[in-house]
Amino acid sequence: MRALHCTATGSLDNLVLREDLPEPRAAAGEVVVDVAACGINFPDVLLVHGKYQFRPDPPFSPGGEISGTVREVGEGVSGLTVGQRVCAWMPYGGLAERVGVSALAAWPIPEGVDMVVAAGSLVTYGTTWHALVDRAGLVAGETLLVLGAAGGVGVAAIQIGKLLGARVIAAASSADKLEFCKRIGADETIDYTREDLKTRVKELTGAGVDVVYDPVGGSFTEAALRATAWNGRVLVVGFAAGDIPKVPTNLCLLKGASLVGVFWGHFATREHEKARRELAEILERVRDGRIVPPIHATYPLERGADAIRELEDRKVRGKVVVRVQP
Ligand SMILES: NC(=O)c1ccc[n+]([C@@H]2O[C@H](COP(=O)([O-])OP(=O)(O)OC[C@H]3O[C@@H](n4cnc5c(N)ncnc54)[C@H](OP(=O)(O)O)[C@@H]3O)[C@@H](O)[C@H]2O)c1
Repeated sequence: MRALHCTATGSLDNLVLREDLPEPRAAAGEVVVDVAACGINFPDVLLVHGKYQFRPDPPFSPGGEISGTVREVGEGVSGLTVGQRVCAWMPYGGLAERVGVSALAAWPIPEGVDMVVAAGSLVTYGTTWHALVDRAGLVAGETLLVLGAAGGVGVAAIQIGKLLGARVIAAASSADKLEFCKRIGADETIDYTREDLKTRVKELTGAGVDVVYDPVGGSFTEAALRATAWNGRVLVVGFAAGDIPKVPTNLCLLKGASLVGVFWGHFATREHEKARRELAEILERVRDGRIVPPIHATYPLERGADAIRELEDRKVRGKVVVRVQP
């Protein structure tokens, strides 16, 4: 079987296509999936550089979300059958032709949803639904500021924010990206590399925003917290800028504001049934066209390193997906 292997951490140049790997077998509680496509997320960049929260020993395959067809069902698994179309989440290992995954982390794909789209929707929309609905309690009429708005989770935040009836302000680093954000539904935009984030938010909103969706971190987090209204919620989603910010917590006191952590992987494990219901709702909206996940580019498995490089180089608008089966 073929898989893209990270042979040593530190560089995307260490990703090598292997053609001679043993086939995985389904352990108890697992299914083996014939992988059709694998969505790329920022944690794949960090994994290859040995900078993620966990550091698997090389060789390993990056790739944390897949779509495909169930090939083998392990002992004790119910509700999944051979031949069924599924998408699945895993810490890593998805850039391979076959992968064994926990049956609890695999969800049926509705008829009519494309494999590439399914592979590119699970983590970004799952994370964002959990963030905006469960963690922030965003409601219609509120204002949502999305940082890194043209990236994977940022795009999901624009689209789910609009679905929930919020006014959405998208912040990103170029005119091109902001134009893209407008096309997919953002009401207003801010170039946070040229404009002062807090000043511009206050100009647009007066009182400030109700919810901030922050997958970027760095210096933007404090500026965004300063731009919240009374009872604001700042969702701590990620640190794509590299630095984990330290913020003056007196701002939370003064504004009755909250810093709210979001960790979809743990949520999906600890509150499995709830995550399953949310994902079913997301895929249903993808199926009926109320959510249209924008696919920035697709790559074949042998060019998986280039797919991950697009995120590292900050080029992505939407989602990059690797087609594992041609
Ligand atoms: N908490 C969770 O459960 C969860 C789940 C999924 C992802 N995440 C996190 O969310 C973040 C975004 O993930 P993603 O998959 O959406 O990534 P992505 O598609 O690459 O988007 C990240 C965005 O961050 C911005 N950015 C700012 N500084 C950057 C830098 N130095 N390098 C790269 N990007 C930079 C970029 O927008 P501009 O160029 O416009 O600034 C980019 O569009 C990551 O930190 C990831 O770990 C968290």
